[in-house]
Parts: sequence; C-alpha cells; structure tokens
Amino acid sequence: MATRFIFLSFCLLFSSTLTISNAKIFPTFPSSRITPEKLSSLISSSKDSQGLYKTKYHTQILDHFNYNPQSYQTFQQRYLINDTHWGGSKNNAPIFVYTGNEGDIEWFAQNTGFMYDVAPKFKALLVFIEHRYYGKSMPYGGNKEIAYKNASTTGYLSSTQALADYASLIIDLKKNLTATDSPVVVFGGSYGGMLAAWFRLKYPHVAIGALASSAPILNFDNIVSPYSFSNIITQDFRSVSENCYKVIKGSWKQIEETAKKPGGLEKLQKAFRISIDDPKTGNDVFAKLYGAASVYYNYSGTAKCFDLNGDSDPHGLSEWGWQACTEMIMLTGGDNKDSIFEESEEDYDARARYCKEAYGVDPRPNWITTEFGGHKIGLVLKRFASNIIFFNGLRDPWSGGGVLKNISKTVLALVEKEGAHHVDLRFSTKEDPQWLKDVRRREVEIIGKWISQYFQDLAQ
Ligand SMILES: *[C@@H]1O[C@H](CO)[C@@H](O)[C@H](O)[C@H]1NC(C)=O
Ligand SMILES: *[C@@H]1O[C@H](CO)[C@@H](O)[C@H](O)[C@H]1NC(C)=O
Ligand SMILES: *[C@@H]1O[C@H](CO)[C@@H](O)[C@H](O)[C@H]1NC(C)=O
Ligand SMILES: *[C@@H]1O[C@H](CO)[C@@H](O)[C@H](O)[C@H]1NC(C)=O
Ligand SMILES: *[C@@H]1O[C@H](CO)[C@@H](O)[C@H](O)[C@H]1NC(C)=O
Repeated sequence: MATRFIFLSFCLLFSSTLTISNAKIFPTFPSSRITPEKLSSLISSSKDSQGLYKTKYHTQILDHFNYNPQSYQTFQQRYLINDTHWGGSKNNAPIFVYTGNEGDIEWFAQNTGFMYDVAPKFKALLVFIEHRYYGKSMPYGGNKEIAYKNASTTGYLSSTQALADYASLIIDLKKNLTATDSPVVVFGGSYGGMLAAWFRLKYPHVAIGALASSAPILNFDNIVSPYSFSNIITQDFRSVSENCYKVIKGSWKQIEETAKKPGGLEKLQKAFRISIDDPKTGNDVFAKLYGAASVYYNYSGTAKCFDLNGDSDPHGLSEWGWQACTEMIMLTGGDNKDSIFEESEEDYDARARYCKEAYGVDPRPNWITTEFGGHKIGLVLKRFASNIIFFNGLRDPWSGGGVLKNISKTVLALVEKEGAHHVDLRFSTKEDPQWLKDVRRREVEIIGKWISQYFQDLAQ
C-alpha cells in the first residue's frame, strides 16, 4: 500500500513540476496537473484481457439533442460484454454496466475487478461501454484525426452526449436480449464514477442504482476549496515523512531560480538527462520524479522516451484536453502556504486563453452544476435522489471534491481514511486490508438491497 501510494504522489509531483516549470521546456496543459485517470493508472493491477469479455459494436447517433441534419450521422460505439454468470432474461437477472471513462474501455474493463468478483453472486451480466471519442469509439468513421480536427467535429464530445449514448445503448441491448425487466446497476470510478452518479440522476428509468467510486462531482464551480486537491497531497506526503515533505517543498524555489538564471534551462535539462541516464546516480529530486513517471509512461518497459504532451499516452487518455477546456472545469491548481507545491493561485484566465488558442473554445465553468447540480447537494438529493453509493478514500486528492456525507438512507457516502483512488473497484487480492474487504462487503449488501427492492416492486 505504502509504495503504491508513494508512486501515486510522485506522479502528481512529477506533473506538477511540469506545470510550474517553464512551459517552454515542458509544454503541458496549464493548471490541470493530471486527469483523474492518470492517477488511478498508477495503482492498478490489471488482468489479461484474454477471456474476460467479448467485444461488440453498436451503431450510435452522433448528436442526441437536435435534428440538425449533420446530427443524424452515426458512429460505431464499442462495448464489452461478459455473460458467463448471467442468470438470463427469463429470470430478469441483473445487468451491471460500467459507464466508461476518458480512455480505452479495455483498460477500465481489465481493472474493474469488483464487477467480475461479484457477478456470480448476483448472476449478473457485465457490460462495459466505451465513452465516445475514446479508444475505438471514434466518430467520423473511426478517424481520430477528423474527430479531433476542430470544434465542429469535436463538439459532440460531452458528458451529456456520453450519458445519452449509455442510455440508448442499454435500452437497445435489453431489447435485443429480451431482458427489458432486468434491473440495471451502473458502476464507475473517477470521471466514470461521476458519469455513473449523474446517470442515476438523469436516467432513473434506465438504472436502479449507481456505485460512484472516487467521483469528484463537487470539484466544480467553487463548491469546494481550490486548495483541497493539493492540501490532500500535502497531507499524504507529511503522513509518510515530514522530512520528505520539507525537501520537496524546498526544491521548487531552487528549480525556479535555476530556471531563471542565464543558462538555467539548459542546466535543468541536463540535470534531467543525467537522472534519465542513470536514475540511481541522481540522488536528487529529478531522479525520483523520473522513476515515478516511468511507472506511468513506461509501464510496458519499451518506451524510448516519454512524450509528456500526452500524444503517446499508453492508455489513450490524451483527448481529455477538449473536455477539460469545455465543461470539465475542475480547478485543482491552487496552493496555500503549507502546500508541498509552491504557493500559488489557480490561473483560470490562463487556462481560458489556452483553451481558446488550442481548441477555439471558451470554457463553460458553470455548465456542469447547471446540468447536474452540486451546490447544496445534500439539500437537493435528500428529497429527490435514491440508490447511489459514493465511495471515497481520503488519501486520494480527488476526494476533496467527493460526496463525503450520507445524504439520505439510500444516498450513501462510504469514506475510508486509508483509501486511494477507486480502490474498491479493483480486483480483490489476498493482501487487501480488512477495511477494503468491509467496504466491498457493504457495497454488495447495499446493491443487493436495491435489487431485491426492485423485484418486490416489479412483482406488485
Ligand atoms: C467473465 O467473468 C468471469 C468472472 O466473473 C470470468 O471467470 C470469465 O473468464 C469471464 N470471461 C468471459 C468470456 O465470459
Ligand atoms: C473542421 O474539419 C472538418 C473536417 O475536415 C471540415 O470539413 C470543416 O470545414 C472544418 N471546420 C472548420 C470550422 O474549420
Ligand atoms: C441490437 O440488435 C440490432 C440488430 O442486430 C443491432 O443493430 C444493434 O446494434 C443491437 N444493439 C446492441 C446494443 O448491440
Ligand atoms: C523503459 O523501461 C525499460 C525496461 O526497464 C528500459 O530499458 C528503458 O530505458 C525505459 N525507457 C525510458 C525512456 O526510460
Ligand atoms: C453512511 O451510512 C452507512 C450505512 O448506514 C454507514 O455504513 C456509513 O459509515 C455512513 N457514512 C458516513 C460518512 O457517515
């Protein structure tokens, strides 16, 4: 656990270095240290894809929300299916759907072991749906270059379109399986967890409940403190080693001052290269940062160099930039004086300028809360929502934007001090600590209640 967690933090650190250091050396997306999924990639234990699922494609409508002729276009949406334990449509056996994140669905399907682990108990059909504009679910005939060419083609990439894809695919699949009465439960982690929770709120007639793991749905529109993200990272570091915290905190000034001096950039690059050549000799921060980045960028052990702009992202997450520039305005870049990073304010205007330049769009920072809510969430969901589990591990910097309090008898927060980014959804292992086993047991119990309630209602 401890090593995983250090990697996790180092990765964050690494990308933060890129953010604070001169953008000319390491051009990177401003004020967005890391996408939610980049974090989780570091702590995942994946299963071989072989034999876990079958791959299918479904013809999906490009634009669910208007009748403008160009909206009638379609694309092939990929989904993965596992019916090994399904009890079948005659028994109205449940369907568990993973609402895909910002990346290749195979990667999520291989890492969401919880669903495979519980499938036998519920006799559930497992379905993992890929998010549009990621992996193989690329509009414009699967041509990624055209899909990401300009705002006219990328404009159909949004969370609302993705949710509508999931709803129409699920309804169509149930019809094909003659399983219209089978209850559907949606699952997701990180951005996928946000989608799962929102799906339950927007499509209660399609899903009877949602397990939203590490879903930072409150990380919008100043609902939570702009410092929460780095405060948690800082806390994580301090709990491991106060000394480590001090060394790293002290290093930013040094890096920045070096960079400002004549020849400083070259010196920094050289320092980087030295630690790259032999990470063991560079007994400095660079070497450690490099080692940490390797975990993510060189997980295959075959990378020749790391493309930190994201173009060679091994998990296909690089397209997040468009979403982060339109509606996913999750500000995590503020650092107060205790932060392990340099004290700074999030520069929203810089991000907006970047977005205009890179994508020709103006961000809509209030759209997510307009569409899905978030402000005074307890007050709202208490009277309106049901059957949602929000899991959060407090070591996860994204937990600052999570739902951490119980809202009602059926909108529940499971919070674990020791937990990391959606650990509950991973394959169970012998080394799992007791608290993690307990979390999963409670999740199974709660989902079991939703399903039996549904069958009772159906019988009436
Ligand atoms: C489906 O999932 C089960 C575990 O729930 C696993 O044993 C099986 O190998 C998987 N594969 C396929 C193709 O159904
Ligand atoms: C965007 O790219 C598409 C596909 O190449 C092209 O047809 C269209 O004219 C472009 N739109 C703009 C506004 O440049
Ligand atoms: C349902 O069946 C039709 C006809 O075979 C097919 O075109 C469609 O893609 C299927 N739906 C799903 C979700 O696979
Ligand atoms: C990636 O890992 C392999 C195996 O450990 C190593 O030989 C290679 O140099 C690494 N690539 C980079 C860019 O560090
Ligand atoms: C919410 O309620 C559940 C079930 O009663 C309980 O297990 C859990 O600890 C509560 N969560 C919080 C954050 O108090």
